[in-house]
Amino acid sequence: MNELPIELLQSSQTPVYYYDVELLQVTLERLVKAASIDHRFKVHYAVKANARPEILRIIQSAGLGADCVSGGEIKAAVAAGFPADKIVFAGVGKTDKEIKLGLSYEIECFNVESIPELKVINELAIKAGTTATVALRVNPEIDAHTHKYITTGLSENKFGIDMCQLDAAVKLAQELPGIKLKGLHFHIGSQLTCLDSYKLLCDRINELTSKYSQMGIEFPIINVGGGLGVDYDNPDENPVPDFTSYFKVFKDNLKLSGNREVHFELGRAVVAQCGSLITRVLYIKESTTRSFAIVDAGMTDLIRPALYQAHHAIQLVAHDSNKRETGVYDVVGPICESSDVFAVDEKLPVLHRGDILAIRTAGAYGEIMASQYNLRKLPGAIFNK
Ligand SMILES: Cc1ncc(COP(=O)(O)O)c(C=O)c1O
Repeated sequence: MNELPIELLQSSQTPVYYYDVELLQVTLERLVKAASIDHRFKVHYAVKANARPEILRIIQSAGLGADCVSGGEIKAAVAAGFPADKIVFAGVGKTDKEIKLGLSYEIECFNVESIPELKVINELAIKAGTTATVALRVNPEIDAHTHKYITTGLSENKFGIDMCQLDAAVKLAQELPGIKLKGLHFHIGSQLTCLDSYKLLCDRINELTSKYSQMGIEFPIINVGGGLGVDYDNPDENPVPDFTSYFKVFKDNLKLSGNREVHFELGRAVVAQCGSLITRVLYIKESTTRSFAIVDAGMTDLIRPALYQAHHAIQLVAHDSNKRETGVYDVVGPICESSDVFAVDEKLPVLHRGDILAIRTAGAYGEIMASQYNLRKLPGAIFNK
């Protein structure tokens, strides 16, 4: 895979996001090839991971659909060329305006998260003289063993319809005239690095589909959500996630009858490795116990370390990086918050004011979560193509 372009990054304004477009394209090629293990597998890109228009256009050209969680994301997906009939819309708090927008575009599916929401979509669809295609999001009570802020499939989480309320939701969805019930939707969490939780999910889905089949109810769409993790510690060794093993779990474990489609909603696995946050060292500050590398990027540009205690590999972008002695630094930003820390005790080549660092694997949930707290400018982006 491509190395970081040292001259380009050294001459750029910082902080800035750098995207390796070639790596994104290779990732998409491998993803599409791996998903072709079964013609019923359809991948929707989770727009929330990165909604930069240049990135969205590349992803839609690879033939993926879009998984959106707001009206804004639906508009961005349409503007980037995703066909409306390949757009699905999830989220626990869809507003009336957003539902009407989805109806007006005749999107592929609303992933419905509660019975009250189902009723509102029904009313709005009837008023608009149409029917809404719907998948019910089930809270499958499966522990994804990931960070508590990115676990979504447990009853204490706000997402999805509890298993004990599912029969009532299915019955209601079948009765409502503005609703066309087509599927069941699941998403157990994010940054899953062990595929065993997906096997448990397949078992749970098989139980449900066979139970409903015996009741004469078939679901032509099963949406298994996203969540495939990436290697944050070794981005160069593992630049592309193991899509082959991921899709094989579903191929081997999901019981698929006839033309039932399986939808996947991958976000992080598509875009994380192609993005790095590029930042400049402002000061090296020695305290009695620590050496701080104070950089010009902060938690406003990349919030994952502060929000999820996430660790991103950090790399010095310099021709002489292999020749320098090793130092140990706390890499911190300029924001007035103690949580504005990218790494503690990070081993790096000895750093100087003006050095450029790349905070790797930042393409997903990076730029899109940037804020202007402290009245900072948003970081912006550069590309290698
Ligand atoms: C319903 C749903 N689908 C898909 C995703 C994408 O997850 P990931 O980026 O981990 O693949 C999320 C992430 O929050 C989600 O909530």
